[in-house]
Amino acid sequence: MVRKKTVEDVEVDGKRVLVRADLNEPLDENGNLADDVRIRASIPTIKYLIERGARVVVASHLGRPSGKPVPGLRLDPVAERLSELMGRKVPKLDDCVGEEVEARVAELAPGDVVLLENTRFHPGETENDPEFAKALARLGDVFVNDAFGAVHRNHASTAGVARYLPAVAGLLLRKELEVLEKALREPKRPLLAIIGGAKVSDKIGILESLLDKVDTMIIGGGMANTFFLARGLNVGKSLVEPNKAEMARNLMKKYESNGVKLLLPTDVVVAERFSAAARNKVVPVEKIPDGWTVMDIGPQSRRDFREVINRAQTILWNGPMGVFEMEPFAEGTMTMAQYLAESGASVVVGGGESAAAVRRAGYAHRMMHISTGGGASLRFLEGKELPGVSCLLDKE
Ligand code: 3PG
Repeated sequence: MVRKKTVEDVEVDGKRVLVRADLNEPLDENGNLADDVRIRASIPTIKYLIERGARVVVASHLGRPSGKPVPGLRLDPVAERLSELMGRKVPKLDDCVGEEVEARVAELAPGDVVLLENTRFHPGETENDPEFAKALARLGDVFVNDAFGAVHRNHASTAGVARYLPAVAGLLLRKELEVLEKALREPKRPLLAIIGGAKVSDKIGILESLLDKVDTMIIGGGMANTFFLARGLNVGKSLVEPNKAEMARNLMKKYESNGVKLLLPTDVVVAERFSAAARNKVVPVEKIPDGWTVMDIGPQSRRDFREVINRAQTILWNGPMGVFEMEPFAEGTMTMAQYLAESGASVVVGGGESAAAVRRAGYAHRMMHISTGGGASLRFLEGKELPGVSCLLDKE
């Protein structure tokens, strides 16, 4: 399936192995980790390497510090959590490149592991500067990319470094690619995609690329408003992209001529203002009142979607059905999570908001796979190149 070499294809005993992980976790207002899913998901590869006598050097970004050190984005809380989860101290170095870092790495014994400081503290990271990539490459004999969440970035630590070291995939990256590939290329049918989120412009690529792969498509969330507009409906004060209405119209036509059923909500929850405290009511999509805002899908839409969900064998879900961060408008997204869990289908959840919703609803364990990558899984489903994958060595 995945035609790239993995950690299992290279000799690591005694070698310095530079592992790019995606340890980019959300932080709360006090700078503490608000989640640890990606840290947990990165551990199997690190353990695999330790057990085989590698000297492991882990690199990651955290947030978007714009090429300079930002105290609140140091990786100390990540190192602390990684140490707790691994049951051993993982020291964190003060930088990710340079003589001091190289000296510390040279002292590592087989089976040791260290975490580098945030790679994005250097402008060369996001610029994919060859000198910065070479500086990173000096820390390893082998490069293992396990950062699925960042493989859509053409950065020094995700792709550039592969020009200077033998580069292979980690266990998490392999698993993510295998699951997504299988769901797209040899799914049990019917294959249903549920695409939501605020803006249709973010999802045009995926709607286009899934056109000839899925049997049924459900569109929900704020992006459905642009489709309503394309059908000539009033959308009140809802978030909408009028300059994408023509494109939405064309997409609907293409889906129809391809024989793919495309479902939009038939009723919605609208609010007087974009606020959890605002008065709200359920209306058919043909009767969205002037001045009101669409916040969620309505009960009839939920029932209709459930029927389609129950008939599907494979389901891809990317993007919430409404403003689920606000309690009164979370029901559409939360019930989708429940219906998916109860469906018996193989469900693959794209990262980001849909993954957060599934966890919040308490159904994470009932999904076949929840991706650790938001932008990355979207890019994959769009059929676009992933620089962090294409840079890896091909399997013979
Ligand atoms: C993510 O959170 O999706 C990845 O870690 C990539 O982060 P980025 O969008 O800041 O590049």
